Amino acid sequence: MSPLFRNRRAEMSRSIVVTAALPYANGPIHLGHLVEYVQADIWVRYQKLVGNDCLYICADDAHGTPIMLSARKQGIDPQVLIDRIHAEHAADFRDFSVQFDIFHTTHSDENRECASLIYNRLKEAGYIKRKAVAQAYDEEAGMFLPDRFVKGGCPNCKTPDQYGDACEKCGATYSPLDLIDGRSVLNGSVPVVRDSEHLFLELGKFETMLKAWLEDDHVQPEVRNKLVEWFEAGLRDWDISREAPYWGFQIPGETDKYFYVWLDAPIGYMGAHKRWCADNDGDFERVWKPDSDIELVQFIGKDIAYFHTLFWPAVLHGSGHRTPTKVYCHGFLTVDGRKMSKSRGTFIAARTWLDHLDPQALRFYIAAKLASGVDDIDLSLEDFVFRVNSDLLGKVVNIASRCAGILKKRYGNQLSAVLDDADAYAEYAAARHEVGALYDAREYAKAIRHITALADRANKYINDAAPWALCKSEDTFEQGRLVCTQGVNIFRALITMLAPVVPRLADGAAELFGTPLTWDGLDAPLLGREIAAYKHLMARIDKKNVDAVVEASKPAEPMEPPKPAAPVYAPVADTITYDDFMKVDLRVGTVLSAEPVKKASKLLLLTIDLGFEQRQVVAGIRKAYSAEALVGRKVAVVANLAPRKIAGEMSEGMVIAAGPGPAEIFLLDVDEGAVNGMRIK
Ligand code: MSP
Ligand code: ZN
Repeated sequence: MSPLFRNRRAEMSRSIVVTAALPYANGPIHLGHLVEYVQADIWVRYQKLVGNDCLYICADDAHGTPIMLSARKQGIDPQVLIDRIHAEHAADFRDFSVQFDIFHTTHSDENRECASLIYNRLKEAGYIKRKAVAQAYDEEAGMFLPDRFVKGGCPNCKTPDQYGDACEKCGATYSPLDLIDGRSVLNGSVPVVRDSEHLFLELGKFETMLKAWLEDDHVQPEVRNKLVEWFEAGLRDWDISREAPYWGFQIPGETDKYFYVWLDAPIGYMGAHKRWCADNDGDFERVWKPDSDIELVQFIGKDIAYFHTLFWPAVLHGSGHRTPTKVYCHGFLTVDGRKMSKSRGTFIAARTWLDHLDPQALRFYIAAKLASGVDDIDLSLEDFVFRVNSDLLGKVVNIASRCAGILKKRYGNQLSAVLDDADAYAEYAAARHEVGALYDAREYAKAIRHITALADRANKYINDAAPWALCKSEDTFEQGRLVCTQGVNIFRALITMLAPVVPRLADGAAELFGTPLTWDGLDAPLLGREIAAYKHLMARIDKKNVDAVVEASKPAEPMEPPKPAAPVYAPVADTITYDDFMKVDLRVGTVLSAEPVKKASKLLLLTIDLGFEQRQVVAGIRKAYSAEALVGRKVAVVANLAPRKIAGEMSEGMVIAAGPGPAEIFLLDVDEGAVNGMRIK
């Protein structure tokens, strides 16, 4: 009995659950993504072709701040956004022949159940702790700001306009609160510091377990080395909670706390599998229990290795589940040797490609470049055209178009009863074992080279035998049929081996043969029967279409500097009564001195004469007024405000000023003749 499909297939095969990373539901699938989904798809198709039980699982990663904000910006509910993106993603995958057994979403009941269960178990087992975290808070937007939502000067090298987590210039990492003149990217306001209580997974408690896992051949050597570095740096507690407002799952037993998206995202693999099991009578428990006999193979990009090789195994183990059998990491796609770029037109959406070019051709090219390591892979657009036309079409498909073409024209599509060279055919058919081992080891480039070398050999055989000449004279007529039959069978072997890479092309070939392509079907050549009349299987790639893709991927307008996000309004604060308001005691004062506050770039320390006494007041007007201009100036002062320390200085009142930004703040005008200490109404 098969554990994945309770009632199917015999025990002899491997049982494997395969996952690819869950794409964020806030943008389209692009060619970079496709490296991964195609890599995993080829692997799964190969496993299925050789008769293994294999499930290919994916879902949209539908939670987190970027999705929440993207929905806000579009004025729609996040649910509407993620539904729309899910439909787009599903269509892109379908058209690129990426065949998931399930493409679910992390925003599902199944995932909520799995995430709650896992969290509760981690908590019971004592792996969760609470800690206060000082965080940037945007008072205008009414929300805590994630690191990348604060921008300002690098505290290390002073480069302006850096994100709150790391400097792009000098590479320093820091907290958003350390930025010089940090601003909320939502509205340009100056964030304040607020404490909130966060929940942490104590990763350090998993050190022994993770080290043992790491040494046990679950990751590639390059990833293992990286992990050793991380261990040396020390395993820090992992913050798994976020404050409201947040788009995600609420944490059970907490108010206004949500799971950080990276907690429930990998659990989404389980959630999706759970749903698949519900729909297909699958055995969920058997896959996820400790010491499961089912392989769990996870394909990811190198940017998310940390999450999948530290946090994720820890979360699984700590909650009483199995850990991954393999985490296979791949490199990044570059186009013409450079990072994909919108302005160069090389940030290419899957859909744009589909509008102009054959998806099978891209699958072939990706395979022709992929190896098992974490090196980046380059899509050279020129090389792409050349390789597809010369190797896939010129070498492999060419065998069919010549031999099946002649069979159609001269032999009524009727194959001979025997092969021209049975030993040679047997060699071609047997090559599938070597090619298969290369697929299994994710050495696709080598597999493709092996197949094209076989195609070279076959083309030489056909050229030498020249069936187009043989078919023309009566005494060599049957010899011509033999050669074409040999050629067609070699093509069948090659296209069967290529089926995981170019499934649609393989479907076309299966139609030609009138029988499905199967791995072990190659042991018996097709003989003494009629095949379908040859139809064109695939068109050559025209460079013009590649140019059209690049053109269509360029921004319509020359790239403008990014516009500030639409304002997000904070809720109006609690009503105060008229009497409350009238309690504010405003007095005329004269600035006696003004000097910068050392710890803050926007603050001035003012000494103000109120007539009846002098006060020291901290004011956030340094960007708008020079100290010299202020001395002697009359200002309006809230005289009955409780004293408070601001940036290390005691402030005994408040100067009335307002404006949209630090440099555009305006003091309330007070008549120069007004007497200090006079009440202002
Ligand atoms: N949502 C997370 C993954 C959560 S998995 C529990 C995420 N999403 S993503 O959309 O940014 O990326 C999805 C996958 O595509 C990742 O494995 C990522 O490495 C891969 N790629 C994204 N851009 C890529 C390239 N340019 N090249 C190759 N792979 C790339 O990360
Ligand atoms: Zn810097």
